[in-house]
Amino acid sequence: MKQDVPPPYTAVTQHAMFPKPAHDEAARYNFLANFNKHMAGTLGAGNKLAYETRVLPAFRAEHGRNPQDRFEVRHAMNRDPWHRLWSACRRNAMEMRQQNGRSIVLRQLDALDALAREFNAGRDTLTLNPKVAVPRYQAAVDIHCMPGSYHGEERPGDVSAGANYDSGLFATTGGQLGALNDGGGQALVEWIRRERPGWSPRRILDLGATIGHNIVPLAQAFPEAEVVAIDTAAPVLRYGHARAQALGVRNLRFVQMDAEHMEAFPDGHFDWVQTTMYLHELSGKSLPAIIREGVRVLAPGGLMFHLEQPQYSDDMPVFEQFLRDWDAFNNNEPFWSAMHALDLKGIMAEAGLPRDCQFVTGVRAVADRSIFPDAPAPDEEDYGRTARWNAYGAWKPAE
Ligand SMILES: C[S@@+](CC[C@H](N)C(=O)[O-])C[C@H]1O[C@@H](n2cnc3c(N)ncnc32)[C@H](O)[C@@H]1O
Repeated sequence: MKQDVPPPYTAVTQHAMFPKPAHDEAARYNFLANFNKHMAGTLGAGNKLAYETRVLPAFRAEHGRNPQDRFEVRHAMNRDPWHRLWSACRRNAMEMRQQNGRSIVLRQLDALDALAREFNAGRDTLTLNPKVAVPRYQAAVDIHCMPGSYHGEERPGDVSAGANYDSGLFATTGGQLGALNDGGGQALVEWIRRERPGWSPRRILDLGATIGHNIVPLAQAFPEAEVVAIDTAAPVLRYGHARAQALGVRNLRFVQMDAEHMEAFPDGHFDWVQTTMYLHELSGKSLPAIIREGVRVLAPGGLMFHLEQPQYSDDMPVFEQFLRDWDAFNNNEPFWSAMHALDLKGIMAEAGLPRDCQFVTGVRAVADRSIFPDAPAPDEEDYGRTARWNAYGAWKPAE
């Protein structure tokens, strides 16, 4: 169980584009990584205790029944002193993470911008298009308390948003996504190798790729494939492309494009259309439109795969739904709650992926043994120590 302690922050600075932390900045991230872990584990358990011993009995006494949904649980829990304390600590940890990441990045922004320009120069694999508008549902909010969100710039043409994003993933995940924050992408590679041994997709598309950290492992696993990462936010693409270059990845293109409008790609162009922790940040209107457009550009026989947190269902206790909903009400994730209650399978079916082609599967992050020497291998029992997702996938019917 040594993996329970996050590795020191310095272990994650493994590519040339990564913003360099000073001693105290690394120490702050180390504190936050451990604090987040403590809040999720030991302190988080206090929420269940508060619910079972105080909040639920009081609710039953007042209403003569159990809470019916996650919203009723939230209203009741928001009056509980332990939950309020825990919630305030968690919100503060996120604000501190953003403050630390921003101060690391801003003090070395000249150097980071210059380095990105160097990595990006002379390559035809970064296509920015200033005509692509940031969707209203993205522009209206500083998503998960990230000042300026993904598209904000300190000055025109900079990489600040991408650099801050990369720099702080360690603190929010306790290093569980590995030295390159790519445990999700590594997991995709493991999954497809087991699911379709020998399959080699010719073209792969990642929607809402941000800095491309989770699509780089696929580009590396399929070096013959043409891999395209799209996003509406230029600063994360500039950083992501430079990062991929620093890692020596040449078959990955970064394109500024709205996933709702992918007219540049013909029907059936890609063998694999991927989203990773993306759908929960889309508005209720854009999500079905993006899935429809994704199905259009997917080749017959191709794979659509969405890596996400599990959808809420009748089988998931309302208390768990309430806890999972925390980010929606405390961490600027305005679509999280509604998105996790959507009928994703219905939306995929309407978009042209019949239900009998769909599947739901669990995908576990691949723990990085270079920083967690005792971490379990992908096929070993991990006793819940590594991050997990649910994936909602479909193989498009062949024509
Ligand atoms: C939660 S992040 C995705 C995380 C990333 N895929 C990963 O592997 O961790 C959401 C990203 O989607 C982008 N985005 C939002 N709406 C979009 C749209 N309509 N088209 C393309 N990108 C979009 C945002 O700019 C942001 O970078």
